[in-house]
Amino acid sequence: MTTRRLYVSRDASALALGAEATARALTQAVLASGVDLELRRVGTRGMTWLEPLVEVEDAGGQRIAYGPVHARDVPELVAHGLFEAAPHALCHGRVADIPYFAQQERLAFARVGLVDPASLDDYVAHDGYEGLRRALTASGAEVVQEVVDSGLRGRGGAAFPTGIKWRTVLEQTATQKYVVCNADEGDSGTFAERMLMEGDPFCLIEGMTIAGIAVGATRGYLYVRSEYPDAVRTLQQALEVARQQGYLGPDVCGSGCEFELELRVGAGAYICGEETSLLESLEGRRAEVRFRPPLPAVEGLFGCPTVINNGISLAAVPDILRRGSAWYRDFGVGRARGTMPWQLAGNVRRGGLVEKAFGVTLGELLYDFGGGSLSGRPIRAVQVGGPLGAWLPESQFDTPLDYEAFTAIGAMVGHGGIVAFDDTVDMARMAHYALEFCAQESCGKCTPCRIGSTRGVEAMDRILRGEQRAANLAQLESLCETMRHGSLCGLGGMTPNPVMSALRHFPGDFAHER
Ligand SMILES: Cc1cc2nc3c(=O)[nH]c(=O)nc-3n(C[C@H](O)[C@H](O)[C@H](O)COP(=O)(O)O)c2cc1C
Ligand code: SF4
Repeated sequence: MTTRRLYVSRDASALALGAEATARALTQAVLASGVDLELRRVGTRGMTWLEPLVEVEDAGGQRIAYGPVHARDVPELVAHGLFEAAPHALCHGRVADIPYFAQQERLAFARVGLVDPASLDDYVAHDGYEGLRRALTASGAEVVQEVVDSGLRGRGGAAFPTGIKWRTVLEQTATQKYVVCNADEGDSGTFAERMLMEGDPFCLIEGMTIAGIAVGATRGYLYVRSEYPDAVRTLQQALEVARQQGYLGPDVCGSGCEFELELRVGAGAYICGEETSLLESLEGRRAEVRFRPPLPAVEGLFGCPTVINNGISLAAVPDILRRGSAWYRDFGVGRARGTMPWQLAGNVRRGGLVEKAFGVTLGELLYDFGGGSLSGRPIRAVQVGGPLGAWLPESQFDTPLDYEAFTAIGAMVGHGGIVAFDDTVDMARMAHYALEFCAQESCGKCTPCRIGSTRGVEAMDRILRGEQRAANLAQLESLCETMRHGSLCGLGGMTPNPVMSALRHFPGDFAHER
């Protein structure tokens, strides 16, 4: 008889909600009852509202979900047949049938929550490294063409076509090229990269290896933000195993191709996520934005041609190689192909990760998946795409999540973070916050951002106090114009998005004193 299994997540979000204590209580209960059950730690399914989630294999090998299960619930659950996957008020049936999960299109996150993140065998048993094997039978140009044809665009915010970036690096003649994964994930309300790194680290490693072999880069760096110690630990373990088993090193899978990968921990500032400051930081300097041109693809890390991609962009690559570009292109709308891990955060009842093809509307994510606000009050404003994203009022909730449709309404998809606020939010204070954030995080290299954000905070202070409102609003608009057009990078250039959208959609909030 095979041993049945219990699964509890060790993802940071689950741990924050008490998964460690739940796992301990389950271990004790298993020992006390003498049943033949093995407890496995996995990544999260992304249903944060159900964490700590416990999955129990039933007699047919199906994974039955119970959640949220806190340590105090364990004795009662066990008494009512948890180990036999019996019905209970906390039971949600088969994980695969939970609507939140069943209605997703899980490509990059297909294995997250399913496999043991530390096990290369588990990864390989779930289609892992098939993309790399296919890449090793093709030329670099063919691999790059496959990525171009897939329509994949960078998931880090700028939505630049990934294959075109790779082609630029491939076409450079240089003795050394690099691949860098930008896993700084600094946007508010985003956690997809973290969940991927903690739940399926080999997928990211495979994506980077394919990139390296395609463009002729022999070295890569994973730049992970310092706030992600669990992801750093998981990745370090996975890198070690991949090296030991010949998936990294001087002779990747016996192909004769070299690819070595190292991890670096970020320097703790939002600007470290901007690609050129990230390269400065990797080179050991203060993260300050570089002038462009030259592009990193031509002169990047240590002056060498460099592919720099977001982790979610890289995680899409193994499947594109394994299943083909046509399969991937089939998901999505217009020029936004494939899927995106949308991240539901803020005042929402069912927060978590929803991987869905582009084209899903904001309203579908907020209400069908998210279940509306946690407070039960109407959702009034939503910020999509991080702290530099525009605020959207309810009248725009039917906008499809698609790069072009969002640009048309002055918003951006960014990293896919969605942060909801109910009708108690004060949008003038949120505009103030955006400028304060920019003033604090500015790298200081250019005047419009360094000075403009500070003058903007001062103008907003006066508006909030009700001083010379018309004159101060005019000054704020003029500052935003200067920042938008005169800033060297997106931090200064996009801070006007949240400020001006708050003013445009919620003018009443700027019209009274506090
Ligand atoms: C202020 C600022 C912060 C950024 N932070 C991130 C980040 O945390 N992660 C990321 O992938 N891209 C970030 N970007 C975008 C990167 O500069 C770059 O476009 C991206 O890493 C390219 O990868 P992709 O083509 O795969 O999206 C940021 C950009 C700006 C202007
Ligand atoms: S916009 Fe701000 S963060 Fe960007 S280069 Fe200028 S000062 Fe630095």
